[in-house]
Amino acid sequence: MSKPTILTGDRTTGPLHIGHYAGSLSNRLRYQYSHDQFLLLADTQALTDNAHDPEKVRRSVIEVALDYLAVGIDPGHTTICLQSHLPALAELSMLYLNFVTVARLERNPTIKDEIRARGFGRDIPAGFLCYPAAQAADITAFKATVVPVGEDQAPLIEQTNEIVRRINAMADCAVLPEARAIIPKAGRLPGVDGKAKMSKSGGNAIALSASSEKIRNAVKAMFTDPGHLRVEDPGCIEGNVVFTYLDAFDQDQDELGELKLQYQRGGLGDGKIKARLEGIVQDLIAPIRERRAQFSEDRGYVLEVIKEGTERARERTEATKREVVNALGLFEL
Ligand code: TRP
Repeated sequence: MSKPTILTGDRTTGPLHIGHYAGSLSNRLRYQYSHDQFLLLADTQALTDNAHDPEKVRRSVIEVALDYLAVGIDPGHTTICLQSHLPALAELSMLYLNFVTVARLERNPTIKDEIRARGFGRDIPAGFLCYPAAQAADITAFKATVVPVGEDQAPLIEQTNEIVRRINAMADCAVLPEARAIIPKAGRLPGVDGKAKMSKSGGNAIALSASSEKIRNAVKAMFTDPGHLRVEDPGCIEGNVVFTYLDAFDQDQDELGELKLQYQRGGLGDGKIKARLEGIVQDLIAPIRERRAQFSEDRGYVLEVIKEGTERARERTEATKREVVNALGLFEL
């Protein structure tokens, strides 16, 4: 029995943060031995909203690869590959664009949110609007059936499956499999300032490479319940970023449940819960930071991992592209 295939990836726009860890890296670690896993360094997708800064996109390829290795992605089992060097992904994207309408792309909730967040107005880069078709190409080129992603990406997997069904219907055979998103229970981590989205650009993220001082300061400044002024006052859990983070990272959920009750009753200070969270985040990041420093001393090794992974991915994606071209009945030479 061959293992089911995972494909997921990250735009290369800067180092990853603990939101990525909670959102999908932890699932990638969990499944890397039971699945045939591919991680895509999505540099061409990064260009769709960073065309003004290709230098950042280029630089970030190594940063994201370092983060993968530092958290424990094992290149002996997971293939790390570079999107811009896999031409089949671009070719499949062009084919898929004929099986999706502009209206459907505009209705995609992820795209709608991101257009708003980026303030594109009427000036949406065409590549950006169309990236759901490209992401469908990424997923299907590997014939992935499992896609670990953050909650915000779910509509993209849905749209991928719509494209898959249209292609299969046209081809009159199941040339492509449908895929299933794996989304963490804890939901999306907000920024340390309480804003809905944690992002590098928003300055409200804790990077996986953060120094212990950065972590301490970030937790200290973290948004709690503004009405919780004295320790004995009852406090609110909802919208309290410290508890949202504890939900995502605390291994002892029973004790956390007790603490929540105590906080809501009154008598538990913000200092205490912040100290608990800081300890947990420090313990999570310290070994990652250490391994990251070691790997970044050996850039040659990191490059080799990406090169080898991209070669392996090229074979697989080219094979799928040929199958799709044939299944659609295009001219053969
Ligand atoms: N859209 C993802 C992000 O914003 C990156 C990505 C590119 C991806 N291709 C993918 C995720 C395929 C899952 C599957 O980080």
